Amino acid sequence: MKLSAEQVLFFHLNGFLSIPTPLTDEVELAWMRDVYDRIFRERAGRESGDQFDLAGSDEEGKEASLPQILNPAKYAPELKDGKYLQVVDSVMKQLFGPEAQAGIAHAIFKPAGNGAATPWHQDEAYWDPALQYYNASIWMPLQEATIENGCLWFKPGSHEWPILEHRPIGGNAKIHGLEMVDLGVLTDPVACPLPAGGITIHRNRTAHFAGPNVSAIPRRALILGAGLPAYKYPSERRFPWNETKHTARDERAEAASKA
Ligand code: NI
Repeated sequence: MKLSAEQVLFFHLNGFLSIPTPLTDEVELAWMRDVYDRIFRERAGRESGDQFDLAGSDEEGKEASLPQILNPAKYAPELKDGKYLQVVDSVMKQLFGPEAQAGIAHAIFKPAGNGAATPWHQDEAYWDPALQYYNASIWMPLQEATIENGCLWFKPGSHEWPILEHRPIGGNAKIHGLEMVDLGVLTDPVACPLPAGGITIHRNRTAHFAGPNVSAIPRRALILGAGLPAYKYPSERRFPWNETKHTARDERAEAASKA
């Protein structure tokens, strides 16, 4: 897949790009949905803290409103063999140069009918504040993504912003997911519906959001990452919203590391 000069320019000016063309065929997408559904059904990574509820307090026995698996290729290594990954890699090299290498980052499943919204956030707000980033996330739905089932929305130009104030969703320190505190800056957002296998790409600071899934089908999204190596942030920086958070997922990860 060769990006046009307009697409490359749009990405660098706006901090996101939508490619509404499937990167792979329906056979591979059907296989990916099978693998994806299996690891969620088996609750892969639950014990180690890699699977958790992004938008709820994630206690045992409570149904997750926005289940997420970090590093799903750890639990389904065959995901690395897909054609889609080679196409994503080639697209990201066109945007960031030959050093950028695409890898699978996480999977976010939005259940039918009651899947929670993913509130407005900047991805970098989740990461280590001691590092400087120049990278992007690639979001790929495994079925059509619509406004009704939770496609992504972006704030154009927000990749140039600093990291604005975030907090755990609803101010609840037991919830892993973050939300931006000041929503007044998010005027004129752009929705990016996609066919199955299409992608959106957004920079590490681009503000984005996904609505709830109010449709009758589950919304499966695979998220990949690519970029330049991170290096030391030039000044002292802290993300206080991550310092006060203490989730059930952290407790499982701690217990697993001691076992
Ligand atoms: Ni995000």
